[in-house]
Amino acid sequence: MAGLSRGAPDKVTIKVRGDGTPLGGSQSEVDHREEQKAKEEAARAAAGRATGAELFERARRVLPGGVNSPVRAMKQVGLDPIFIESAEGAEVIDRDGRRYLDWVGSWGPMILGHSDPEVLEAIREAAARGTSFGAATEAEVELAEEVVSRMPSVEMIRMTSSGTEAAMTAARVARAATGREILVKFAGAYHGHSDGLLAEAGSGVATHGIPSGPGIPEAQAAGTVVVPWNDRKAVSEALESHEVAAVFAEPVAANMGVVPPEEGYLEFLREATSRAGSLLVFDEVITGFRVARGGAQELFGVEPDLTVMGKIIGGGLPAAALGGPRELMEKLAPAGDVYQAGTLSGNPLAVAAGLTTLRRLDQEAYERLGHLTDRLVSGLKDLAGEHSLTVGSAPGLVTLFFSALPVKDFDDAVATDRERHAAFFRAMLERGIWLPPSQFEAWFVSLAQDEISIDRTLMAAAEALAATDPRRKIG
Ligand SMILES: Cc1ncc(COP(=O)(O)O)c(C=O)c1O
Repeated sequence: MAGLSRGAPDKVTIKVRGDGTPLGGSQSEVDHREEQKAKEEAARAAAGRATGAELFERARRVLPGGVNSPVRAMKQVGLDPIFIESAEGAEVIDRDGRRYLDWVGSWGPMILGHSDPEVLEAIREAAARGTSFGAATEAEVELAEEVVSRMPSVEMIRMTSSGTEAAMTAARVARAATGREILVKFAGAYHGHSDGLLAEAGSGVATHGIPSGPGIPEAQAAGTVVVPWNDRKAVSEALESHEVAAVFAEPVAANMGVVPPEEGYLEFLREATSRAGSLLVFDEVITGFRVARGGAQELFGVEPDLTVMGKIIGGGLPAAALGGPRELMEKLAPAGDVYQAGTLSGNPLAVAAGLTTLRRLDQEAYERLGHLTDRLVSGLKDLAGEHSLTVGSAPGLVTLFFSALPVKDFDDAVATDRERHAAFFRAMLERGIWLPPSQFEAWFVSLAQDEISIDRTLMAAAEALAATDPRRKIG
């Protein structure tokens, strides 16, 4: 499928010094470091405030690990968390005044870039009318209509505040609809942190090497069958040997790094679940409104029974949703008897930000996102060829895997060289490039990026790869 790639790279065009000498002291890096240092000192002197390091000391006393979500800790790349002061367009600026070109994008929502003036204005306007009513609003209806017009399989949505809640609700609706209890999920996929869906999860669980067991009742764990991604036989066996309520899939796996489905795999999942009387749930929290206007279900032409959405739907504020056909969605209270609720569900600020973001994401926006992704992927593949690495991608999503072998499932992702990834991450950060601090996360392309920012990233990557190449002679 066009725009998707997995596996070993095919051609090499970008050359860095062939003798393996480190490019860590290159002019661009030295300039960048000096500029950053000067800015940092100026910012600190001007403000006389706590530095990022001092803030971390305080944070550790009052927040477990000093953060409110594990991957931010940066432990996995041997660093302390970086405190962000502000962000604009394609850049984030830290507490100490350092600017970084941002490939994290708040882990997906910021597809328009940071502090987009139109989104900010929509939030301001909404806030001026009141920040939360706990009652129905017109904008919620408009957002639902926008989603329904985009997602092929969705006739109705129920909004929640997080993807975790939306996925949890999908499980409950699937169980109520089928009268069955077992869920099937893929190793390395992440559907939020609810009890039943955390088994062998990717994302932060995999990043920190945390066992998915502690705190989860055995009965909940036993209710989830985990199978390898892109494996047909394992799915067929799970469906044959259990009464499965639903198979949960990220249609492009993006929490083990970006691992697209093999040709025909989503079609297989559709057919196998229908045959077994199980529901197919696409978790489009990452892929939704990113890989195409109507998400992965539009890109691949495969319609799930239920769709979990998040990230972009809230435009950078907390919002997520479950979507599906009327028949399933009306099982939810008050239309039906499956209970689900939320004090801040459909919050007016989040709805304003999400609706404004979605309305900006037209065909032209997706063409540009595709073009930017292709440019980044093609440059990374050239570098990957030179360094025996692998690139996984989908429109708007990229991972550079530190492995010479194709990555087709979680085992392959776990077998990558994570120390080398960490060294590369640090070398990129020194060059002003903010990547996800984990081998298991995607780089998120945003529309605030442009050809120049991509070329800057590729130049930095060429230097960083050479500087951290384990084949390099030391001394
Ligand atoms: C595919 C997927 N599903 C669900 C979630 C959970 O969403 P949230 O963090 O909003 O609870 C995430 C979070 O990254 C995700 O990537």
